[in-house]
Amino acid sequence: MNILILGSGGREHTFAWKLSQSDKCQNLFVAPGNSGTTQIATNIPIDVNDFEGIKEIVLKNDITMVVVGPEDPLVNGIHDFFLNDEALKLVNVIGPQKAAAQLEGSKEFAKEFLYRHNIPTAAYESFTKETLDKGYTFLETLKPPYVLKADGLAAGKGVLIIEDINEAKNELKKMLVDSKFGQASTKVVIEEFLSGIELSCFVLTDEDNYKILPTAKDYKRIGEGDTGLNTGGMGAVSPVPFVDDEFMQKVENRVVKPTIEGLKKDNLPYKGFVFIGLIKVGDDPFVIEYNVRMGDPETEVVFPRIQNDLVEIFQAMGDGRLKDIELKVTPKAATTIMLVSGGYPEAYDKGMEINGLDKIEESIPFHAGAQLKEGKVITSGGRVMAITSYGETYKEAIKKSYQNIEKLHFDKMYYRKDIGFDL
Ligand code: AMP
Ligand code: GLY
Repeated sequence: MNILILGSGGREHTFAWKLSQSDKCQNLFVAPGNSGTTQIATNIPIDVNDFEGIKEIVLKNDITMVVVGPEDPLVNGIHDFFLNDEALKLVNVIGPQKAAAQLEGSKEFAKEFLYRHNIPTAAYESFTKETLDKGYTFLETLKPPYVLKADGLAAGKGVLIIEDINEAKNELKKMLVDSKFGQASTKVVIEEFLSGIELSCFVLTDEDNYKILPTAKDYKRIGEGDTGLNTGGMGAVSPVPFVDDEFMQKVENRVVKPTIEGLKKDNLPYKGFVFIGLIKVGDDPFVIEYNVRMGDPETEVVFPRIQNDLVEIFQAMGDGRLKDIELKVTPKAATTIMLVSGGYPEAYDKGMEINGLDKIEESIPFHAGAQLKEGKVITSGGRVMAITSYGETYKEAIKKSYQNIEKLHFDKMYYRKDIGFDL
């Protein structure tokens, strides 16, 4: 079978690494891909939102499975585009259709879904420019800190958590009236603040059945001790040590089942990954957000632990046979540490050569913002590379990653040295 992966990050390199291990995978393509994927697949320089261009690649290369990495093409309706095209409609697209992708594309849509299906989540109300005054009044009914969320996609930057009520009101006005996040903040969701520890739960669904993948925890802040600006993720650990069977049973009964049943009841077709951002408050799970794709860098620790043939899993999803798959997961821990370019998530340089990759032992370097140029691997993004290791415990795995990172170098390389500190 010929397979196309859409995207260019560490997540997509991990998918490629895993899919390429399958006997069922004949030709693997990644669009646009990076320096990691080019070693195991054919990179095709095309944008993930160029649907006509992607159609051409699929037809030319006899591709029958498309795995969508990032959210943008899903929110823009790539799955619907395939279903509505005579020549493409039988291609197995891994990712939900546009209507269901609104779970990530609109915070208000997600909150309404959560409420409609009685899934535990923070209390909220949403506001527009016209209801700004009501927004101020709602803020006054809440206790600090105040959680303000731009309704639409804002590249992970649209959530503000603010201590001071006047500052919160001011930011609300900036979002609604001054378009702080452009189109994304024409609507703002204001939420009750929940205090607890966060984790991510990943679910595969073929619409009728679901499989819960290993849990993971990512580290979103740039600075040690979870300080500083939010990033795409600076490291991840799987499994999450503070999650036990009893808690997972609550997650399954209160969150996963009603989510999958809710998608069906609401007629939201969904073959793909549901990424459920959870917060554990006391001993109870609450949903912070849905994403309609895998997490990055969570993919870099979740998939290395899955022992099944990934092509078989995706085929079963396409055919509605997911219930026949028995998921095999190694009991070993996997951890990843993200190497970033100094300055990220603000301004940073690109084009620096990465040295030492040939010296890595017992870790897997998943390339993210890195490209091959004249035989050299050079940085091309803020998050450059995720160094994944296994261990009997997460501590052992983390140690292995740090030992290997010592051998790597690029100008202004930065990484957090405290991944796992809070576990
Ligand atoms: P989101 O994009 O909705 O996941 O929000 C980004 C981050 O903001 C989350 O990972 C949490 O750390 C934090 N957050 C969002 N909503 C809440 C909430 N209701 N209570 C506490 N923290 C929150
Ligand atoms: N690591 C968080 C995300 O992928 O959204």
